[in-house]
Amino acid sequence: LLMKKSNANFPKTVEGQVFHVGIKRGEMGDLSRAKLLSRWLDADTPIFQRESRRGFLTITGKYKGVPVSIVGIGMGLSMMDFFVREARAVVDGSMIIIRFGTCGTIGKATAGDVVIPEGSFVVTKNYDYPIFENKEIAVQDYEIKTKEQPYNISKVIYGDKEIRGLIQKQLLNSGIPQNQIFQGLNATCDSFYSSQGRLDKNFVDHNKELFKSICTKYPDAESLEMETFMLFYLAKCSTDAPYRFQRKANNEQRNSIRAAATAVVISNRKTNEFVDPDRLDDLVKIVGEAVLKVLLEIELDEVHFEDDECVW
Ligand code: URA
Repeated sequence: LLMKKSNANFPKTVEGQVFHVGIKRGEMGDLSRAKLLSRWLDADTPIFQRESRRGFLTITGKYKGVPVSIVGIGMGLSMMDFFVREARAVVDGSMIIIRFGTCGTIGKATAGDVVIPEGSFVVTKNYDYPIFENKEIAVQDYEIKTKEQPYNISKVIYGDKEIRGLIQKQLLNSGIPQNQIFQGLNATCDSFYSSQGRLDKNFVDHNKELFKSICTKYPDAESLEMETFMLFYLAKCSTDAPYRFQRKANNEQRNSIRAAATAVVISNRKTNEFVDPDRLDDLVKIVGEAVLKVLLEIELDEVHFEDDECVW
């Protein structure tokens, strides 16, 4: 249970537990969303469920007769990398992956809204940036004096336009009003803290000006989270080399993964407002079902194997 008036700069539960590790002061110790979504799977077909030792929860079943998987991957670029590459390795044919999760926002959306990013860029700490170059110089001064920037902000990788449009349509059908749905760009960050502009006196993060730098480079930056860029990037890197799809006339190479993303805004980083936990649960159910409906609407490419075998 999150605090009703939790502070998005360092969210804690009513018991004072930190957001991810789940421990409070004096203690040293969430795949719940995937479980929440499994309620929509057809009850009359078998449901496969496995929780890995590395914290991934896979629930595979059918939604209105169509096979789908809901996978809780945890958080971060590496978890998305594990998931996309490992899932790709054990699925035949083309794949559609939609990331559904939560995010913060630095744009027009606020807590309780929903975003469907057109594209995503990655914000990473510049690990070459001096931490304490000269203790005599105040941190802000030396951010100006050094030529290096404390954070790198990448170019944008776009998601699948058709899938994005279908998500928008299904969200509207499910009763989410147009003025609570935002597109714009997503910033995927390599930390929930430093590269998402959270201020933490325990570390020197050089991030006070980060939102300004992001919004100067990308004025339509909307959401902040930790996974979407990796999904969009890997979808763009994916090849159909191991498969023989029904190719277009010019025999062009095609990506074997189509990707899109949507997220419920849980924190407004400009006002530090946090979503009401009951509202969050409702939104997860509504948006989660909308995403499953999108999967019903898209045709997957047919795959043909040479000699019934996939050659790597
Ligand atoms: N997820 C994030 O990475 N950041 C937020 O502020 C909220 C959800």
